[in-house]
Amino acid sequence: MSKLVALIPAAGGGSRLGAALPKQYLRIAGRPLLHHAVASLLADARVGHVYVVLAPGDACFRTCDWTAFVDRLTPLYCGGETRAASVYNGLLAVNDAVDADDWLLVHDAARPCLDRAALARLISEVRDDVHGGLLAVPVADTLKRADDAGRVATTEPRERLWRAQTPQMFRYRLLIEALRTAPLGEVTDEASAVERLGVRPRLVMGSACNLKVTYPEDVRLAELMLTHAATLTTAACEDPA
Ligand code: CTP
Ligand code: MG
Repeated sequence: MSKLVALIPAAGGGSRLGAALPKQYLRIAGRPLLHHAVASLLADARVGHVYVVLAPGDACFRTCDWTAFVDRLTPLYCGGETRAASVYNGLLAVNDAVDADDWLLVHDAARPCLDRAALARLISEVRDDVHGGLLAVPVADTLKRADDAGRVATTEPRERLWRAQTPQMFRYRLLIEALRTAPLGEVTDEASAVERLGVRPRLVMGSACNLKVTYPEDVRLAELMLTHAATLTTAACEDPA
Protein backbone atom coordinates (compact mmCIF):
# COMPACT_ATOMS: atom_id res chain seq x y z
CA MET A 1 0.00 0.00 0.00
CA SER A 2 1.47 3.39 -1.00
CA LYS A 3 2.12 5.94 1.72
CA LEU A 4 0.79 9.49 1.59
CA VAL A 5 3.07 12.27 2.84
CA ALA A 6 3.00 16.04 2.47
CA LEU A 7 5.64 18.58 1.53
CA ILE A 8 5.16 22.27 2.33
CA PRO A 9 7.45 24.75 0.57
CA ALA A 10 7.98 27.48 3.18
CA ALA A 11 11.22 29.11 2.09
CA GLY A 12 9.81 32.26 0.49
CA GLY A 13 10.37 35.81 1.68
CA GLY A 14 6.81 37.13 1.29
CA SER A 15 7.88 40.22 -0.66
CA ARG A 16 4.36 41.13 -1.90
CA LEU A 17 3.05 41.11 1.64
CA GLY A 18 5.91 43.31 2.82
CA ALA A 19 5.73 42.25 6.48
CA ALA A 20 8.67 42.39 8.88
CA LEU A 21 9.05 38.61 8.75
CA PRO A 22 8.32 35.96 6.07
CA LYS A 23 4.54 35.50 5.83
CA GLN A 24 4.63 31.84 6.85
CA TYR A 25 5.50 33.06 10.36
CA LEU A 26 2.81 35.76 10.61
CA ARG A 27 0.42 34.90 13.43
CA ILE A 28 -3.23 34.77 12.49
CA ALA A 29 -5.94 33.45 14.81
CA GLY A 30 -3.21 32.88 17.40
CA ARG A 31 -0.81 30.73 15.41
CA PRO A 32 1.70 31.13 12.55
CA LEU A 33 0.35 30.62 9.03
CA LEU A 34 2.65 27.62 8.65
CA HIS A 35 1.18 26.06 11.79
CA HIS A 36 -2.33 26.31 10.32
CA ALA A 37 -1.13 24.78 7.03
CA VAL A 38 0.51 21.82 8.80
CA ALA A 39 -2.54 21.28 11.02
CA SER A 40 -4.90 21.31 8.05
CA LEU A 41 -2.95 18.48 6.38
CA LEU A 42 -2.50 16.37 9.50
CA ALA A 43 -6.23 16.68 10.24
CA ASP A 44 -6.66 13.88 7.69
CA ALA A 45 -5.46 10.64 9.26
CA ARG A 46 -4.39 9.35 5.84
CA VAL A 47 -1.53 11.90 5.77
CA GLY A 48 1.31 10.12 7.51
CA HIS A 49 3.93 12.85 7.76
CA VAL A 50 4.55 16.49 6.83
CA TYR A 51 7.93 17.80 5.68
CA VAL A 52 8.42 21.57 5.57
CA VAL A 53 11.08 23.05 3.29
CA LEU A 54 12.70 26.06 4.95
CA ALA A 55 15.29 28.60 3.82
CA PRO A 56 18.77 27.39 4.82
CA GLY A 57 19.19 30.38 7.14
CA ASP A 58 15.69 30.19 8.69
CA ALA A 59 15.87 31.26 12.34
CA CYS A 60 12.10 31.42 13.02
CA PHE A 61 11.02 27.79 12.80
CA ARG A 62 12.79 26.70 15.95
CA THR A 63 11.26 29.54 17.96
CA CYS A 64 7.68 28.34 17.31
CA ASP A 65 5.77 25.66 19.21
CA TRP A 66 5.27 22.55 17.07
CA THR A 67 4.50 20.14 19.91
CA ALA A 68 0.95 19.58 18.64
CA PHE A 69 2.38 17.49 15.81
CA VAL A 70 4.84 15.39 17.87
CA ASP A 71 6.73 13.10 15.49
CA ARG A 72 4.66 13.76 12.35
CA LEU A 73 6.53 16.95 11.29
CA THR A 74 10.10 17.34 9.99
CA PRO A 75 11.84 20.59 8.92
CA LEU A 76 14.23 20.45 5.96
CA TYR A 77 16.59 23.40 5.64
CA CYS A 78 17.06 23.14 1.88
CA GLY A 79 14.89 25.86 0.29
CA GLY A 80 15.91 27.17 -3.15
CA GLU A 81 15.68 30.34 -5.23
CA THR A 82 12.14 29.64 -6.46
CA ARG A 83 9.12 27.74 -5.14
CA ALA A 84 9.75 24.94 -7.63
CA ALA A 85 13.42 24.72 -6.59
CA SER A 86 12.35 24.47 -2.95
CA VAL A 87 9.94 21.65 -3.78
CA TYR A 88 12.56 19.85 -5.85
CA ASN A 89 15.20 20.16 -3.10
CA GLY A 90 12.64 18.86 -0.60
CA LEU A 91 11.88 15.87 -2.80
CA LEU A 92 15.57 15.04 -3.01
CA ALA A 93 15.88 15.36 0.78
CA VAL A 94 13.05 12.88 1.49
CA ASN A 95 14.31 10.33 -1.03
CA ASP A 96 15.25 7.76 1.64
CA ALA A 97 11.94 8.13 3.48
CA VAL A 98 9.58 7.50 0.56
CA ASP A 99 9.13 4.93 -2.19
CA ALA A 100 8.73 5.76 -5.88
CA ASP A 101 5.01 4.87 -5.78
CA ASP A 102 4.22 6.88 -2.65
CA TRP A 103 1.88 9.85 -3.01
CA LEU A 104 3.11 13.40 -2.29
CA LEU A 105 0.77 16.23 -1.36
CA VAL A 106 2.49 19.56 -2.06
CA HIS A 107 0.82 22.45 -0.23
CA ASP A 108 1.69 26.16 0.10
CA ALA A 109 2.57 27.42 3.56
CA ALA A 110 0.66 30.52 2.48
CA ARG A 111 -2.70 28.65 2.42
CA PRO A 112 -3.75 28.39 6.07
CA CYS A 113 -7.51 27.86 5.43
CA LEU A 114 -7.54 24.49 3.63
CA ASP A 115 -10.75 22.81 4.73
CA ARG A 116 -11.10 19.17 5.62
CA ALA A 117 -13.74 18.43 3.01
CA ALA A 118 -11.61 19.69 0.11
CA LEU A 119 -8.55 17.77 1.29
CA ALA A 120 -10.60 14.60 1.78
CA ARG A 121 -12.05 15.00 -1.73
CA LEU A 122 -8.60 15.40 -3.27
CA ILE A 123 -7.17 12.33 -1.57
CA SER A 124 -10.20 10.15 -2.30
CA GLU A 125 -10.47 11.15 -5.98
CA VAL A 126 -6.76 11.06 -6.79
CA ARG A 127 -5.69 7.91 -4.90
CA ASP A 128 -7.03 5.72 -7.71
CA ASP A 129 -5.95 8.02 -10.56
CA VAL A 130 -3.10 6.97 -12.81
CA HIS A 131 -1.54 10.41 -12.99
CA GLY A 132 -2.49 12.52 -9.98
CA GLY A 133 -4.37 15.78 -9.58
CA LEU A 134 -4.93 19.07 -7.83
CA LEU A 135 -7.54 21.19 -6.09
CA ALA A 136 -8.88 23.96 -8.32
CA VAL A 137 -11.99 26.12 -8.67
CA PRO A 138 -13.83 27.06 -11.88
CA VAL A 139 -13.43 30.73 -12.86
CA ALA A 140 -16.63 32.58 -11.95
CA ASP A 141 -15.86 36.14 -13.05
CA THR A 142 -16.00 37.50 -16.59
CA LEU A 143 -12.45 37.74 -17.92
CA LYS A 144 -11.04 40.89 -19.60
CA ARG A 145 -7.73 41.15 -21.41
CA ALA A 146 -6.19 44.64 -21.10
CA ASP A 147 -4.45 46.72 -23.73
CA ASP A 148 -1.34 48.80 -23.01
CA ALA A 149 -3.48 51.72 -21.82
CA GLY A 150 -5.28 49.68 -19.19
CA ARG A 151 -8.49 49.51 -21.20
CA VAL A 152 -10.41 46.41 -22.20
CA ALA A 153 -9.03 44.95 -25.40
CA THR A 154 -11.16 41.79 -25.38
CA THR A 155 -13.49 39.73 -23.24
CA GLU A 156 -12.10 36.23 -22.94
CA PRO A 157 -14.25 33.09 -22.75
CA ARG A 158 -14.06 31.52 -19.30
CA GLU A 159 -15.44 28.11 -20.27
CA ARG A 160 -13.25 25.32 -18.90
CA LEU A 161 -10.96 27.73 -17.05
CA TRP A 162 -10.01 26.78 -13.49
CA ARG A 163 -7.86 28.49 -10.87
CA ALA A 164 -5.25 26.09 -9.49
CA GLN A 165 -4.90 25.74 -5.74
CA THR A 166 -2.87 23.46 -3.51
CA PRO A 167 -2.54 20.72 -2.32
CA GLN A 168 -1.48 19.05 -5.55
CA MET A 169 -1.05 15.27 -5.37
CA PHE A 170 1.32 13.16 -7.44
CA ARG A 171 3.35 10.02 -7.03
CA TYR A 172 6.95 10.63 -5.96
CA ARG A 173 8.48 9.13 -9.11
CA LEU A 174 6.46 11.31 -11.49
CA LEU A 175 6.85 14.49 -9.45
CA ILE A 176 10.62 14.33 -9.08
CA GLU A 177 11.04 13.50 -12.78
CA ALA A 178 8.78 16.42 -13.73
CA LEU A 179 10.69 18.91 -11.60
CA ARG A 180 14.09 17.53 -12.57
CA THR A 181 13.37 18.32 -16.21
CA ALA A 182 11.33 21.56 -15.79
CA PRO A 183 12.71 25.11 -15.95
CA LEU A 184 12.41 25.79 -12.21
CA GLY A 185 12.17 29.54 -12.72
CA GLU A 186 9.07 29.19 -14.87
CA VAL A 187 6.81 26.57 -13.32
CA THR A 188 4.60 27.99 -10.57
CA ASP A 189 2.92 24.74 -9.54
CA GLU A 190 3.61 21.02 -9.60
CA ALA A 191 0.85 20.30 -12.11
CA SER A 192 2.41 22.52 -14.77
CA ALA A 193 5.71 20.64 -14.43
CA VAL A 194 3.87 17.33 -14.75
CA GLU A 195 1.89 18.62 -17.76
CA ARG A 196 5.20 19.24 -19.56
CA LEU A 197 5.67 15.45 -19.55
CA GLY A 198 2.42 15.05 -21.48
CA VAL A 199 0.40 14.02 -18.43
CA ARG A 200 -3.07 15.46 -17.72
CA PRO A 201 -3.64 15.93 -13.98
CA ARG A 202 -7.19 15.51 -12.64
CA LEU A 203 -9.01 18.67 -11.53
CA VAL A 204 -10.70 18.21 -8.16
CA MET A 205 -13.18 20.81 -6.86
CA GLY A 206 -11.40 23.03 -4.35
CA SER A 207 -12.91 25.65 -2.08
CA ALA A 208 -13.18 29.44 -2.10
CA CYS A 209 -11.98 29.32 1.50
CA ASN A 210 -8.59 27.95 0.45
CA LEU A 211 -7.10 31.35 -0.40
CA LYS A 212 -3.38 32.05 -0.78
CA VAL A 213 -2.19 34.83 1.49
CA THR A 214 -0.29 37.12 -0.87
CA TYR A 215 -1.26 40.77 -0.16
CA PRO A 216 -2.02 42.52 3.15
CA GLU A 217 -5.81 42.33 2.67
CA ASP A 218 -5.52 38.52 2.39
CA VAL A 219 -4.22 38.38 5.97
CA ARG A 220 -7.41 39.93 7.30
CA LEU A 221 -9.56 37.67 5.13
CA ALA A 222 -7.73 34.53 6.27
CA GLU A 223 -8.00 35.63 9.88
CA LEU A 224 -11.74 36.14 9.50
CA MET A 225 -12.16 32.73 7.90
CA LEU A 226 -10.19 30.92 10.57
CA THR A 227 -11.91 32.79 13.39
CA HIS A 228 -15.42 32.27 12.06
CA ALA A 229 -14.95 28.88 10.40
CA ALA A 230 -17.46 27.23 12.70
CA THR A 231 -20.20 29.64 11.64
CA LEU A 232 -19.61 29.37 7.89
CA THR A 233 -22.22 26.91 6.76
CA THR A 234 -21.90 26.79 2.99
CA ALA A 235 -18.46 25.75 1.81
CA ALA A 236 -17.26 23.63 4.73
CA CYS A 237 -14.56 26.07 5.80
CA GLU A 238 -13.76 24.01 8.84
CA ASP A 239 -11.22 25.07 11.43
CA PRO A 240 -8.15 23.03 10.46
CA ALA A 241 -7.02 22.81 14.10
N1 CTP B 1 8.35 29.37 -1.53
C1 CTP B 1 9.47 28.59 -1.28
N2 CTP B 1 10.68 28.94 -1.82
C2 CTP B 1 10.81 30.04 -2.58
C3 CTP B 1 9.67 30.84 -2.87
C4 CTP B 1 8.45 30.48 -2.33
O1 CTP B 1 9.37 27.59 -0.58
N3 CTP B 1 12.02 30.35 -3.07
C5 CTP B 1 7.07 29.02 -0.90
C6 CTP B 1 6.48 30.12 -0.04
O2 CTP B 1 7.07 30.10 1.27
C7 CTP B 1 5.00 29.80 -0.05
C8 CTP B 1 4.79 29.12 -1.41
O3 CTP B 1 6.09 28.79 -1.90
O4 CTP B 1 4.63 28.92 0.96
C9 CTP B 1 4.01 30.00 -2.37
O5 CTP B 1 4.82 31.10 -2.75
P1 CTP B 1 4.40 32.64 -2.64
O6 CTP B 1 3.00 32.77 -2.21
O7 CTP B 1 4.86 33.30 -3.88
O8 CTP B 1 5.29 33.11 -1.37
P2 CTP B 1 6.56 34.05 -1.36
O9 CTP B 1 7.46 33.71 -2.50
O10 CTP B 1 7.12 33.97 0.01
O11 CTP B 1 5.91 35.48 -1.57
P3 CTP B 1 6.30 36.61 -2.66
O12 CTP B 1 6.22 35.95 -4.01
O13 CTP B 1 5.30 37.70 -2.46
O14 CTP B 1 7.72 37.05 -2.31
MG1 MG C 1 6.77 33.92 -4.58
